[in-house]
Amino acid sequence: MTQKILVLPGDGIGPEITAQASRILAACQARGLDVEIEEGLLGGGAYDAHGEPLPAETLEKARAARGILLGAVGGPKWDTIEDLAKRPEKGLLGLRKELGLFGNLRPAITYPQLAEASSLKRELVAGLDIMIVRELTGGIYFGQPRGIEERDGQRVGFNTYVYSESEIERIGRVAFELAQKRGRKLCSVDKANVLEATILWREVMERLAPEYPDVELSHMYVDNAAMQLVREPKQFDVVVTGNMFGDILSDAAAMLTGSIGMLPSASLNESGQGMYEPCHGSAPDIAGQNVANPLATILSVAMMLRYSLDAPALAAQIEEAVGKVLDEGLRTADIASEGTRTVSTSEMGDAVLAAFEAL
Ligand code: NAD
Ligand code: IPM
Ligand code: MN
Repeated sequence: MTQKILVLPGDGIGPEITAQASRILAACQARGLDVEIEEGLLGGGAYDAHGEPLPAETLEKARAARGILLGAVGGPKWDTIEDLAKRPEKGLLGLRKELGLFGNLRPAITYPQLAEASSLKRELVAGLDIMIVRELTGGIYFGQPRGIEERDGQRVGFNTYVYSESEIERIGRVAFELAQKRGRKLCSVDKANVLEATILWREVMERLAPEYPDVELSHMYVDNAAMQLVREPKQFDVVVTGNMFGDILSDAAAMLTGSIGMLPSASLNESGQGMYEPCHGSAPDIAGQNVANPLATILSVAMMLRYSLDAPALAAQIEEAVGKVLDEGLRTADIASEGTRTVSTSEMGDAVLAAFEAL
């Protein structure tokens, strides 16, 4: 059956990087992937066109799609919109919530060719393969009450960090199951020395553990986890954590791979429908210059093939093509190092496409 894919280029570098990823997607189609691809508006561009960061039409298209490929949303142009509900980022959060995309997988894999591009020493990162599992539709991002209000003659900003047992359990199961298929080590990251929501988090993870006797569960406070990620990253296999901690730790983990431009992601719901996006943002500082790294977005297409479209062989071919291009010494500016050749966004796309087609 033909499956639908929705491409949401978004803002800033979003259109530049999704253009390259879309070429790979089209090449997959030519290789027999039975999909119908359409585009939509999300974020700042959607606000400019319709006054809404998540227009009803986009939501409708998203509901009908098996896989959504997103570039990135946001930028300074929209940072001063008074009504917070209209900000580009709210469009993305709304889409995650509406589709129930609670399971965010952020794999930090250091290609051996890029060990020199990391800010850490080669021996600390070469061969690194961590899976960060971030809860994506709960926690402090969505907790009520929230707001900014007048209290005792001054304004007070407040948010609520809340997790229910069922929310913790379902993300826990995703993480345990992934750990079973990988190195069978799961580290749950919390702040259970301070925050009740994460005391419950730790309890639920412990309660699940006997159902996965082959997985070794450990716990770590988030401050220590941030330190351990840069001290000895290879101690981790699967890391599971809440929405905000996962956001922060995954950006830190990105530097272990050489650049934030290398980290793809999958955001999944219970039916296997998924949104796929690079972990980075719209990079306003380099937008429109054709210099952004498109590899995180291209690798997000590979994740879509694996997790939503049941096409693991094509996914592996995309990953192999990326490896070949890195072998050839081609690098966008963010991952360049001595002896490599710096190429543009579109030249990187050309090279990956050529390598893919040669397989
Ligand atoms: P950012 O990730 O956009 O940029 C941080 C730094 O990384 C910048 O120096 C940027 O040039 C660099 N960078 C990011 N992606 C790159 C790539 N592919 N190639 C080369 N360099 C890259 O984070 P920010 O500056 O904090 O946020 C900018 C905007 O993006 C904000 O509006 C923010 O809300 C939004 N944002 C969106 C998403 C998303 O849509 N998923 C994610 C994060 C941030
Ligand atoms: C991410 C981003 C988003 C988040 C923002 C843009 C809402 O930083 O996808 O990592 O915090 O989840
Ligand atoms: Mn982030």
